[in-house]
Amino acid sequence: PARDEILVDAETFPTDGYIAESAARMTGCRIRAVPAAEIGAACGPRTAVALVNHVDYRTGRLHDLPGTTAAAHAAGALVVWDLCHSAGALPVGLDAHGVDLAVGCTYKYLNGGPGSPAFLYVRRDLQPRFDSPLPGWNSHADPFGMAPSYAPADGAVRGRVGTPDILSMLALEAALEVWDGVAVEDVRAKSLALTDFFLECVAAYVPRGRVECVTPAAHAERGSQVALRCEDAEEVMRELIARGVVGDFRRPDVLRFGFTPLYVGYADAERAARVLADVLAERHPGGGPPGAGGTGG
Ligand SMILES: Cc1ncc(COP(=O)(O)O)c(C=O)c1O
Repeated sequence: PARDEILVDAETFPTDGYIAESAARMTGCRIRAVPAAEIGAACGPRTAVALVNHVDYRTGRLHDLPGTTAAAHAAGALVVWDLCHSAGALPVGLDAHGVDLAVGCTYKYLNGGPGSPAFLYVRRDLQPRFDSPLPGWNSHADPFGMAPSYAPADGAVRGRVGTPDILSMLALEAALEVWDGVAVEDVRAKSLALTDFFLECVAAYVPRGRVECVTPAAHAERGSQVALRCEDAEEVMRELIARGVVGDFRRPDVLRFGFTPLYVGYADAERAARVLADVLAERHPGGGPPGAGGTGG
C-alpha cells in the first residue's frame, strides 16, 4: 500500500504500542516511534495513521490535539487519540477538531471504578468504513439473530464485541450521574487550580532540590496530574500510601499525583504535599530549608 507507516507516540502507554504493533503485523505496515509533539510534522505521504496519547501518563504533559490532528489531515493521515488521562479532566472537543478516532478508559477521571468499561470514538463519516478487528454478536446488525455470517451494526455500535460487563456498566452509570449539570470547563478550571495549589504547597514544604516537577508549568500543556521526580520514589510512594496519600510510582523515579476535581479538594492537595514533605524529611533529616523553586522546571 502507498500508506504503509504507523506513527506511534514514542512515550505511549505500553498497551497502545502493543496494539499498534499487532495492527502493523496484520496489515503489513511498519511502526515509527516519534515524540508526541513532533507527530504532526512527521506525518507524510506514507503515514496511514498516527497514535498519540493526549496526556502523557508519566509526565502529565498535555499534547496539542487540534494542531496535531490538523497537521496529520493535511498529510492525508488519520490520528487515533488515547484519552485515558483527559476524558473527564479537561475539554477535548473531538467533534470540534475533526478527530478521526479515539479510545479511552472510564476508571480514571470519570471515576467508573476498577475495571470499568473502555470507550471508542469513531468520527461519524468514518463509521460506515470502520471495520472492527474484533467483531462479536453484540456488534452485529441483528445481535439476537445469531446469523452465521457477520453483518456489522450501523454507527459506532459496531465497535462493541461480546457480552458486556453489566455490573461495571451500572457502576459507571452511577459515576456519570455525578456529571449531570456539570460543565467540563469548570472541572478543568478546578483541576488547574488544584494542581497549581499542590505545586505551591510542595514548593513551600519540601526542601529545595528534593523533588523536581516534570509536569509542565504552562496550563496549556498540563493534564490533571503532577509528576515529581524524586530519589527512591518507589519507597516514598509506598510510605505516602501507608499514610493515606494514594498516588502512583512510575519507573524509574516518578511520583504521580492525580487530581479528580469532582472528588479531590484543596485540603487534600495541601495534606498530600505536607505528608510528602514529612516522609522526605524523615528519610533525610536536616535536609535544608523549604523554599520556592524546590519543584524546579
Ligand atoms: C494512557 C493509557 N492508555 C491505556 C491504558 C490501558 O488501559 P486498559 O488497561 O484499560 O486497556 C492506560 C492505563 O493506565 C493509560 O494510562
